[in-house]
Amino acid sequence: MRKEQDYYFKKAKKDNYPARSVYKLEEAQLKYKFLKGGQRVLDLGCHPGSWSLYTAGIVGEKGTVVAADLQRTEILTQKPHAEIHWLCYDVFSEEFVDYLKQHWPGFHVVLSDMAPRTTGSQYADHQQSLLLARRVLELSVLFLHENGTLYCKVFQGEDFPAFLQECKPLFATVKVMKPKSSRLESREVFVLGRGFRRTR
Ligand SMILES: C[S@@+](CC[C@H](N)C(=O)[O-])C[C@H]1O[C@@H](n2cnc3c(N)ncnc32)[C@H](O)[C@@H]1O
Repeated sequence: MRKEQDYYFKKAKKDNYPARSVYKLEEAQLKYKFLKGGQRVLDLGCHPGSWSLYTAGIVGEKGTVVAADLQRTEILTQKPHAEIHWLCYDVFSEEFVDYLKQHWPGFHVVLSDMAPRTTGSQYADHQQSLLLARRVLELSVLFLHENGTLYCKVFQGEDFPAFLQECKPLFATVKVMKPKSSRLESREVFVLGRGFRRTR
């Protein structure tokens, strides 16, 4: 394990998070402060649960975290953390959309750390990651409140600029971040869209 990876792995253990990926959200939050007390947050690709736990600590007991993954996740949180609703769904399924519609009137923030199973082909992984990111955009259009925030992982590649162009009309600002805890050799970056506006 390389030195900086070892550092984040150990830090996650010490901070009681199930995965080191939490620091990819924490860095963006410390810089841009888009998570706030009382918000309702949708976390897509939540397993094993680090981003949701971190978010629940920030939105607090008046907030709500709705966390979904193909894999089942169950972690109990205690006040003053927000309640976390752990859902087991494929984000592409219509059942998932229906369930969200039935239970919540929308979200202030949509997070996605979803990643496809990597195949070894950079091109194929990039395309699969874009399919996920585009689904996240569709769900954001359905569920984000006006002025809401999106923070979404994407594997970079030749069609990444086109994806950014699709994001731009939907948000007042769109930034691309590469957090320090993300491996340098990994092609993952995070798109931060703020000030969601429903295009008419
Ligand atoms: C890097 S992990 C997320 C780690 C998480 N943010 C944390 O901090 O614990 C990516 C997750 O995306 C999930 N995922 C990939 N495709 C999905 C899909 N179509 N629907 C729901 N979850 C998906 C995977 O099952 C995997 O658990």
